[in-house]
Amino acid sequence: MNPNLVQKQVRKTWFLLLTRVMCCGNVQSAESKDSVNIIEPRCEYRTAPLGIDTQAPRLGWRISTERRSWQQRAYRILVASSAALLQAESGDLWDSGEITSSASQQIIYRGKSLSSTQQCWWQVRVWGTDGSTSTWSVPTMWTMALLKDSDWTALWISARDSNPVHTEQKKLFLPPARQYRRAFTLNKPVARALWSVSALGIVDGWLNGQAVSDAYFEPGWSDYRKRAYVRTHDVSALLKVGDNCLGAVVADGWYSGYVGYGKLVGYGPYKTGRMFYGKTPALLAQLDITYEDGSREQINTDASWQVTDAGPWREADLLMGENYDARLAQPNWSTASFNASNWASVIRAEEIGSIIAPYSDNTGTRNEEYGFQRPVRLQAYSGPPVRITREIAPKKLREQSPGVYIFDLGENIAGNIRLTVNGPAGTTVRMRFGEMVHPDGRLMTENLRKARVTDTYILRGDANGETWTPRFTYHGFQYVELTGLAQPPTLSTITGLVINSDTPVVASFASSDVIFNQLFANITRTQLANFIDIPTDCPQRDERLGWAGDAQIYVRSSAYVADVASFFTKWLDDVEEAQLPEGPYPDYAPYPMGHGKPGKTFGTAWMDYGIICPWTIWQVYGDTRVVERHWSSMTKFMDWRKASSPTLTGVSIGNPWGDWLNLKEDTPVEYIDAVYYAKDALMMAEMAQAIGKESEAAVYRQLRTDVVARWCLDWLNVDGTLKVQTQTAHVLALENHLVPDAHVAAISARLVQRITDNGFRMATGFLGTKPLLPVLSANGQHDLAVRMFQSRNFPSWGYEVENGATSIWERWDSYTKEDGFGRHNAAMNSFSHYAFGSVCEWMFRDLAGIDQLGAGMQHLIIRPQPPTPTSNPERAPMSWVRAEHTSHYGLNSVAWERTVEQFSVKITIPPNCDARVFIPTSDVTSIRIDGQTVREAGLTVELSSTNPTLRIGSGSWNITAKP
Ligand code: BGC
Repeated sequence: MNPNLVQKQVRKTWFLLLTRVMCCGNVQSAESKDSVNIIEPRCEYRTAPLGIDTQAPRLGWRISTERRSWQQRAYRILVASSAALLQAESGDLWDSGEITSSASQQIIYRGKSLSSTQQCWWQVRVWGTDGSTSTWSVPTMWTMALLKDSDWTALWISARDSNPVHTEQKKLFLPPARQYRRAFTLNKPVARALWSVSALGIVDGWLNGQAVSDAYFEPGWSDYRKRAYVRTHDVSALLKVGDNCLGAVVADGWYSGYVGYGKLVGYGPYKTGRMFYGKTPALLAQLDITYEDGSREQINTDASWQVTDAGPWREADLLMGENYDARLAQPNWSTASFNASNWASVIRAEEIGSIIAPYSDNTGTRNEEYGFQRPVRLQAYSGPPVRITREIAPKKLREQSPGVYIFDLGENIAGNIRLTVNGPAGTTVRMRFGEMVHPDGRLMTENLRKARVTDTYILRGDANGETWTPRFTYHGFQYVELTGLAQPPTLSTITGLVINSDTPVVASFASSDVIFNQLFANITRTQLANFIDIPTDCPQRDERLGWAGDAQIYVRSSAYVADVASFFTKWLDDVEEAQLPEGPYPDYAPYPMGHGKPGKTFGTAWMDYGIICPWTIWQVYGDTRVVERHWSSMTKFMDWRKASSPTLTGVSIGNPWGDWLNLKEDTPVEYIDAVYYAKDALMMAEMAQAIGKESEAAVYRQLRTDVVARWCLDWLNVDGTLKVQTQTAHVLALENHLVPDAHVAAISARLVQRITDNGFRMATGFLGTKPLLPVLSANGQHDLAVRMFQSRNFPSWGYEVENGATSIWERWDSYTKEDGFGRHNAAMNSFSHYAFGSVCEWMFRDLAGIDQLGAGMQHLIIRPQPPTPTSNPERAPMSWVRAEHTSHYGLNSVAWERTVEQFSVKITIPPNCDARVFIPTSDVTSIRIDGQTVREAGLTVELSSTNPTLRIGSGSWNITAKP
């Protein structure tokens, strides 16, 4: 069976199941309400993935059933080398047999060793502890990548590049994208064909006139000299017996285009800000064909390919924009009948030869090689593809000045536009993009710094109109300025296209204070705008780097908002690759250029992402592999940390970012450093334990104890107060449990005092803001936390939303009523920075109350926390909250409501999960479950030191109690 068809069938089945979930709230089987079905079988977090490069892929599935408190007792997995064998229930690759286990995620394949491009069909069935049995899941599959170097017979190819190395710092250099093609003939019917493609640059694959994939920016960003990603596409359905033609468009991308603030600060070869990894892009592609008769053939990149740079993509730069001259388009260029007689022959990439240029960064200038350097390693891309995930019709259009039109999408996104126009050939349409407009309506571009962010489309003059979308760039924008059309545009001239790594959004949030519904939408939008191949800091200006402080602060929030498991799997490889030889993780990953003072290319709380992100991914997804994979890198970092501070005291030896963007309350970096050291040590101890490294766990536990003891010596006064009087200092101490028990209450009271003295406003930056509300909630100040959350005063989340934010701003004062954009406009002022969106973690965990017990979210803590109705003199405290989050096990939802007389909560727990529910009441006898007393419902109440708790299994539960 054609794998495309199977994938379609799989998708269709899920679609139907999902539709049923959405229509009926629960999946109903055709046979019976009681049936147990398996949905979403996934391999390495992905649906029917192609090109897996681990010999032991991990499988997982969800259960759909209306049976309450359903627990899996056992499972059986079959993996077969063909669909037919699987249908006959033969697991020739692996038959797990009936395994007694409640695990339904992170199941490691333990079958026969797998070979390159092998196709693995699989299904699973389960048994419940209640005696129920599922049928076999709908068959699904994965394929293996090219696993060994020797499997690659394709050659790296490139083009003769007569352009001299660009040496001018002031002037942009934007070369055209190149098109490659190769026609070939197939004499017999194809059973299966996998195309493995990589590039130094960005590649769009084509076959017989059709795009091979809807993904953007393949193969993805890595340190190309060390490692290049490979994408695998199943192109069976695009091939035919007879003449065929492969094509590829290759643009500079991160490899040789403009990256980050290189141009702004004069980094890169000749300080131009471009060409960080090499001068001329290159292509590697291998088509592995299996014919119906079982024979095989390959069509590989080699000297027989042709190339041109005379096509329509005159400029194609990720940061600066795209310039497309439709008059130069060569229709059908990737079909066999196209006449390519004026195309050139390709060269082997090695023929580029040596190109030495002086490279500059924070450490000075040195000569480096910019000719072709074969990546040491090829690696299958493990993340989700970047693609268009949403289209937006502009909300407004006006003529700003004669011939200058401004479109307003109504929201600040990252992505592109689709342009639909009609006009004479040669008409040049220019589009500039901005996040904001000035008070007089002009597009604001000052905050883009050196990013040109301009697209140009030159019409071919088609009387039926023409449509264009850039492929090799993206922008962060809400407004589009369009010039050059003879006729005034209409709202349908452009469509906004949201582009992001396709991490499915798995959450929703609503509450009685409706502006926070908008806040959650803004958080989600900002996350998606910045999860583009890597977690970037911002999508608009000349930066877009994988800034690590931002990522570590936001990683837990991101995993509430979306399924980010495979996204972080990919990026954590980039992180390890970027690790500096001595051990610290640099400020961002990938790491094309050093920044900051020489030798100080890391910083406290930024470098610690190398520990915090793997720990978080393990916690949320139960992923111990990510811990094992990066263990030696993490221990190297910890060893370096120890060597940097033999006395275990906090040090400031890197970039002193500190509590970045706080409001005039700097906390010493040495203080923060000690806190993060203690945090790292604890996380290392927990991770060591999780992967069975008992003795290392003990060592890290002891390290943690010692660092905390040292911290107490350094930062606690004898009376138990802190030596640093900032909000952030108090919050970090409490969040990380550094303060001896005897002093916790006093320090927490001091924090409250500081907040009160500050007019109930925060003064915190990136580091203090995330734990601020969680610490208040955990220390008996939940009402204050909710009050601060609901504030509309500057600085607050409410202030941003009330002032029209559709995304999360980089700074609390990115815009103020008094000064407009005036404070930071022409400098660092992004309106799409997710760090202050890290309050999302508190919204879900502390306010709605969706928390977890142990790693993996199979065992949950549900702790709804309504504020006291009279606790906020400024506005009505939230009286209801509804939050949903779909984990890898299924839907967790909490909808609580509190009136003066009654507390009620509706909880949904996914099958194969259980929860400990904390009920906010002191009157145990008032608890009712679906109208029944605890005993009638067959449950028991446990009395904890805080609230009474109930243990419940899967299903939906309505619980009420006297508040
Ligand atoms: C980025 C930040 C980042 C910071 C380091 C900025 O330019 O946009 O978000 O963390 O540099 O301090």
